[in-house]
Amino acid sequence: MADFARRNIIKAVVPAAGLGTRFLPATKATPKEMLPVVDKPAIQYVVEEAVAAGLHDVLIITGRSKRSIEDHFDRAYELEEALAAKDDKERLALVRESSELAYVHYVRQGEPRGLGHAVLCAAQHVGDEPCAVLLGDDMIDPRDPLLNRMIEVRQRHGGSVLALMEVSPDEVSRYGCAAITPTDDGDVVRVTDLVEKPPRGEEPSRWIIIGRYVVDPAVFGVLRETPPGRGGEIQLTDALKVLAERGPGEGGPVHGVLFRGRRYDTGDKVDYLRTVVQFASDREDLGPEFLPWLREFLADREDGVR
Ligand code: G1P
Repeated sequence: MADFARRNIIKAVVPAAGLGTRFLPATKATPKEMLPVVDKPAIQYVVEEAVAAGLHDVLIITGRSKRSIEDHFDRAYELEEALAAKDDKERLALVRESSELAYVHYVRQGEPRGLGHAVLCAAQHVGDEPCAVLLGDDMIDPRDPLLNRMIEVRQRHGGSVLALMEVSPDEVSRYGCAAITPTDDGDVVRVTDLVEKPPRGEEPSRWIIIGRYVVDPAVFGVLRETPPGRGGEIQLTDALKVLAERGPGEGGPVHGVLFRGRRYDTGDKVDYLRTVVQFASDREDLGPEFLPWLREFLADREDGVR
């Protein structure tokens, strides 16, 4: 058995140091990652996803004004005591849930120098092990266990593994994009090249990177040498491009898992609204009341009723 197949992946890295400028003024003093999707902060869904894939050690990369993230994954004694005194078991369980989910650690990214730099801040905590990186702007439906599949692919091939999704040509330039070749496995491809946010007409394919990665520890060494790229920021995509050109034993190769499941984007306001509506509609406690209202609301709008 190859050495990499024996090493279990137990750590997840969640970059959450972005400024969240697309959601101002809400994100002036509140981290974007704490915005609720219905009644749970977006970042909790991401941590739950990591835990569901067996990753119980979660490192969150934070920055200024992010203290509420730490509070959220910590105990809240006063609140818990108040709920216990009222014998409100249901809410007490909800409050405790996030503090009991995982071993959550934090490191601060001193300056906003891009996603690659944020991931590099995890180097010391992660050490010489592969780890998963989960970006909060993408939420993956728990019914479609993508991360488990990515970990399997890493155990089989070594190197790094990206989650890829096919989008329409006009969407590609918003993402990192991969040039790919097929493998024997229908949902697994070899990544031969990567471009961060390619200008229209220059995209190598319509397969974009969604925010899930399993990275070989060699990525840290490459990130240290990676110059600022697109937008003047150190890009994770650029470091993975270097690894995609390397063979096994040198930190490569890079594979992609073609994801055809349910992904929710919370990156901008319209995507965020769509996600909230979909989650609310799917909830057993809310959907039956919310959906008839939504239908009526839309019908009224179409009839020109305000
Ligand atoms: C980041 C990555 C990009 C990836 C995207 C997925 O971009 O740099 O390659 O496709 O996440 O959400 P950002 O959304 O931070 O601009």
